[in-house]
Amino acid sequence: MTRWAMGEWRGGRGAERWTRGASWNARIIVGLSWMMATAISCRPPADTREARDFERMREQQRYDAYGPSRFFNNGAVMQAPPAHTIPRETRVAESAFPLPIAFTTGRSSGDTSDYATEIPIPVDDRLRALGAKQFEISCAPCHGAGGFGGGPIAPNLVDRRPPSLLTPAIGALRAGMIFTVITNGFGRMPPYGWQLSPVTRWAVITYVRSLASQPMNAAMRADSVEAASLHRLDSLRAAGANVEEMTRNPENELRR
Ligand code: HEC
Repeated sequence: MTRWAMGEWRGGRGAERWTRGASWNARIIVGLSWMMATAISCRPPADTREARDFERMREQQRYDAYGPSRFFNNGAVMQAPPAHTIPRETRVAESAFPLPIAFTTGRSSGDTSDYATEIPIPVDDRLRALGAKQFEISCAPCHGAGGFGGGPIAPNLVDRRPPSLLTPAIGALRAGMIFTVITNGFGRMPPYGWQLSPVTRWAVITYVRSLASQPMNAAMRADSVEAASLHRLDSLRAAGANVEEMTRNPENELRR
């Protein structure tokens, strides 16, 4: 223990020495807190830091699909696949089970309006689990965890809300029709054919069709509450209410 820390260097009698020591400790504590407070307040605010990190990611080196490359001999980023490469889906079609034409098209025949009524592959627990997981990733952001239409993106889709997937109209849609909606998109809904393999799309449809019988959890309840409140907002807006003003300043309602 140094003499500094003991407060001994000032000498004096026991009690006095103790208080002097204490007051030095207090000064050190105040000093350290001041330094820490300054250090914290010198950091840029969180949103500036986020913006900077995002910029850094955006501007990092990268290859664009059709761009030039100095790495490959032919000078192009995109390379031809090795000889005899086949699409993964062809492989599934050849080996796993005899797949009907609807598997990749959603149609039972070559006729474009001949939507398959049922899921064209065996529905088992694995497919159901895949569907539940993929629905949560790809569909719930808009249609909500329970399919009610209150996903986190829904409040931003002001001119066309993601519809509830639990209505009789959606229930009556043929499986192949939903397959086509997922594959190509629909109105304001983006296409997912490029992201989700046919198996995954059919899995999602299996899950969509089971939405009404799923046990409610907290996320689904939040979805249903949000969907109801969006529905109310939209009706108010349709009736000519200044919804923006009302939601920006909820106290207005109390004062009236
Ligand atoms: C970015 C938001 C968004 C995502 C993500 C999204 N949808 Fe949609 N979806 C919409 C909107 C908006 C509509 C209504 C489109 C319109 O009427 O213009 C819609 C419509 C639909 C319809 C109704 C089509 C009809 O015939 O009325 C179905 C079924 C559907 N979506 C299923 C899905 C499934 C399954 C997924 C996940 C693979 C999904 N959606 C992902 C926004 C989304």
